[in-house]
Amino acid sequence: MNTHKTRIAVFCSGSGSNFKALFHAIRNKHLPTEIVLCLSNRAQCGAMEFAQQNGIATVHITEKQFDSFDKFASAMIGRMKEHQVDIILLAGYMRKVPDAIVAAFPERMLNIHPALLPKFGGDGMYGIHVHTAVLEAGETETGATVHFVNEEYDKGAILLQRTVPILPDDTPETLAARVLECEHALYPDALEKLLTLQRS
Ligand code: GAR
Repeated sequence: MNTHKTRIAVFCSGSGSNFKALFHAIRNKHLPTEIVLCLSNRAQCGAMEFAQQNGIATVHITEKQFDSFDKFASAMIGRMKEHQVDIILLAGYMRKVPDAIVAAFPERMLNIHPALLPKFGGDGMYGIHVHTAVLEAGETETGATVHFVNEEYDKGAILLQRTVPILPDDTPETLAARVLECEHALYPDALEKLLTLQRS
């Protein structure tokens, strides 16, 4: 039996509510995994504060700290090795992940997106912009998607997806809140599915 706990790095840029949901779900469901690192392009944000309060190592890293993108990517890979990271979960990470990292984590990096991909994904489609576009398009339902990360933005294979209704008086903000609630259950379920796939 494989008794090694899968070591997770979560990449975040903001409030980190998905990070928190993952952290609690791993504990409550006794998943054979642990979050060992929180990486962010912001020195302080909700996710980084939560990590610090819960004894999880943090790394603040941005392109600006390096004189080339390659050096930035190498430093990121170095951090993953240092913390012996097995899988990476992007949870509201608002930067493009360097291709070198994607190549180093084949089938081992997931992202959560607040819409039903392949609709409403790609460049510029993040956070509230997604929900504004969904409402402007007159959709009757939306949702959230967890997918594998490849070199193309929001284009990797879908692992798990769940729909969320759109109500007649929704604003981008009310819709965002309903989708976020769905994400908090979806991401842990997708993680569980990935762990099962990896261990079978
Ligand atoms: C989430 O809704 C996530 O799906 C979205 O940002 C929010 C982060 O919230 N991600 C993207 O739009 C990526 N394209 P959180 O920091 O509270 O988890």
